[in-house]
Amino acid sequence: MVNITSALLCTVLAATAAAQSANSTLRYMPFGDSITEIICWRSKLWQKLQGTPYASVNFVGSGKTENNCKDATYDRDNEGHSGFLAVDIANKGQLDGWLKTNPADVITMHLGTNDAARGSGGTAEILAAFTKLVASMRKSNPKMKIVVAQIIPISIAASNTKIVALNAAIPAWAQGLNTTESPIWVVDQYAGFSASADLRDGVHPNDKGDVKMMNVWYPALIRAFDAAAKEKAKRGLEFEA
Ligand SMILES: *[C@@H]1O[C@H](CO)[C@@H](O)[C@H](O)[C@H]1NC(C)=O
Ligand SMILES: *[C@@H]1O[C@H](CO)[C@@H](O)[C@H](O)[C@H]1NC(C)=O
Repeated sequence: MVNITSALLCTVLAATAAAQSANSTLRYMPFGDSITEIICWRSKLWQKLQGTPYASVNFVGSGKTENNCKDATYDRDNEGHSGFLAVDIANKGQLDGWLKTNPADVITMHLGTNDAARGSGGTAEILAAFTKLVASMRKSNPKMKIVVAQIIPISIAASNTKIVALNAAIPAWAQGLNTTESPIWVVDQYAGFSASADLRDGVHPNDKGDVKMMNVWYPALIRAFDAAAKEKAKRGLEFEA
């Protein structure tokens, strides 16, 4: 009798703890290149989340670099790697290790700018890399909620042509890999973003560009957090039953 009672008590306590911690323990990895690393949209995003049920979402990643955002309060952790190509990250399997160190429930990916700027390789090669990266995400977490960007423009015309081609191919590519368990949502960071007015150096967003990027990420992330939080809460209840 004593054993059964204490076992039940343990189960109930664990289930309650799981349900209560579902919101606070959601983990979000901002993943990409310098347009995820040395920018300030992450700061603006974190600040905007403070007015939502997702104020305590844990931003995760191995780096803390940003672009002098003058914000001492936000969670700077991110997996943005300046200068990195999608094809290199995929072929070296780097995301596997990054997600092993910092697992996530939700991930955003803004990648392909360096591939386009380098000149070699085209849309097909970049999408093949994206496919490997999605496989890494799902290997780490079969329920990963994935937000993929059609990426912002660049001021170099030849590279921008490649970005336009990549962006055009992203929705069909994402649809082909979409699953109920691990949805991929595509967001358009290109539309409405000006390569002349919203970039500080021809490549990276200035303050106006950071605001635009944050406003595109935000609704997609809320949807992804909702989906992830619902699952975590359900898992808590299943445990209780
Ligand atoms: C998460 O937060 C929302 C909004 O505050 C709340 O409705 C929901 O019940 C919370 N979920 C858990 C599992 O605590
Ligand atoms: C993937 O499926 C979700 C629903 O689970 C949907 O909201 C989303 O738009 C789909 N993504 C693509 C790229 O079709």
